Amino acid sequence: MAKILAIESSCDETAVAITDDGKLLANVVATQIAVHEKFGGVMPEIASRLHTENITVCLTQALDEAKVKMEDIDAIAVTRGPGLIGCLHVGLQAAKTLAMLYDKPLIPVHHLAGHIYANEYVGQFEFPLLCVVVSGGNTELVVMRDEMDFEIIGETKDDAIGECYDKVARVLGLPYPGGLPIDQHAKLGKHTYQLREPDSPAGKYDVSYSGLKTQVINLVNSLKQKGTPVNIDDMARSFQDVAVGMIMDRALKAIHDFKAKQVVLAGGVSANSYLREQMSKALEGSDTKIIIPPLWCTTDNAAMIAKVGEHLYKKGIFADLDLGVDPNWKIDHWMDFKNE
Ligand code: KG4
Repeated sequence: MAKILAIESSCDETAVAITDDGKLLANVVATQIAVHEKFGGVMPEIASRLHTENITVCLTQALDEAKVKMEDIDAIAVTRGPGLIGCLHVGLQAAKTLAMLYDKPLIPVHHLAGHIYANEYVGQFEFPLLCVVVSGGNTELVVMRDEMDFEIIGETKDDAIGECYDKVARVLGLPYPGGLPIDQHAKLGKHTYQLREPDSPAGKYDVSYSGLKTQVINLVNSLKQKGTPVNIDDMARSFQDVAVGMIMDRALKAIHDFKAKQVVLAGGVSANSYLREQMSKALEGSDTKIIIPPLWCTTDNAAMIAKVGEHLYKKGIFADLDLGVDPNWKIDHWMDFKNE
C-alpha cells in the first residue's frame, strides 16, 4: 500500500501524477506542443522555462484532483533521464525539494522504463517480454526476463524513428509533430514511390532511419526541381511502409529468437495505427500476446513514472538527495544513479 507522487519533465510535457496502490488518482499533463510547433521542433531552452512555470501549477492541480496532501504521500518518483538536460533539472529539483521538505524517499525513474510500464495500466506482464520502444528520441528493442530487468538487444544506429517521422513531415509541409499527420495521410495513399531500407546496420536487431529520411528529402527536392507535384498521401504511405516495416522485421526476429511470451509497444510512435495493426496481425494465432497501450499513455505523462515508482518502492530502491540528472541514461544501466 503506497501513495506515489510522480513528476515527468524530460521533454515538452510537464506532468504530475498520483497513484494509490496502483490506482491512478490524478494524471495532470501540461503540454507545450503549441509553443514548439512554430519552430518545427522542441526548443530546449524554452521547454525548460515553461517547465519552471508549469511545474507548481501541475503539482497543485494533481494534489487537488487526488484529494491528498503532501503529508499523505509515501514517496516521490521522478524522471532522471534520458531527456533534455535543462528540462530534466526542473523536474528533479522539484522532486528533491518535496522529498526534503516532507521527508519522503526519492525514486529515480528511467523515462523509457516509464513508457514500457505504462502498459501495466492495461495488462499484466509475462516474461520473457519484448518491448518495442519507439519514440521521438529513442528506438530500441528491449528484452525483459523479469520485473525491471532490461537488455537492449537492438537500437537505431542514428536517428530515432519519431525524429524521422517529424523530419519527413516537415519536408512535406505537414505540421509538427509529424507522426500523426503522416499516419493519417498514409491511410489515403498507395506505395508508389521507390524508397528502400538503408543498408543493414551492424547488429541483427539494429535499425537505421537517417538514410530513409535523406531518401525522402532528396526525392521530394528532385521532384520539386522538375516541377512534378508530390503526392503527399502516396509519399507518406511509401515512407511509412518502409519505416514501420524495418522495426517490425527486427521485432519479429527477436520475438522468435527470444521466445517472447509477450510484446509491448512503448513511446510516442506506438500511437501509430499501421504499427499497431501490423504487429497485431503478425501475432494473430501465435503464442505471443501483445499489449497495445491506450493513446493517453503513448505520449509523455507522469502516470507511467508512478508505475515504475511503485515497483521500486516495493523493492526499497531510493536515491540520495544529491541525485543528478542523466540526459543519456541507458535503460540497462537504470541502477546506476549515483552522481558520477
Ligand atoms: O515519446 P515521445 O513523446 O518522444 C520522446 O519522449 O522522445 O514521442 C513523440 C514522437 C514524435 O516524433 C511524434 O511525431 C511521434 O511520437 N508520433 C507518431 C504518432 N503520434 C506521435 N509517430 C507515428 N505515428 C503516430 N500516429
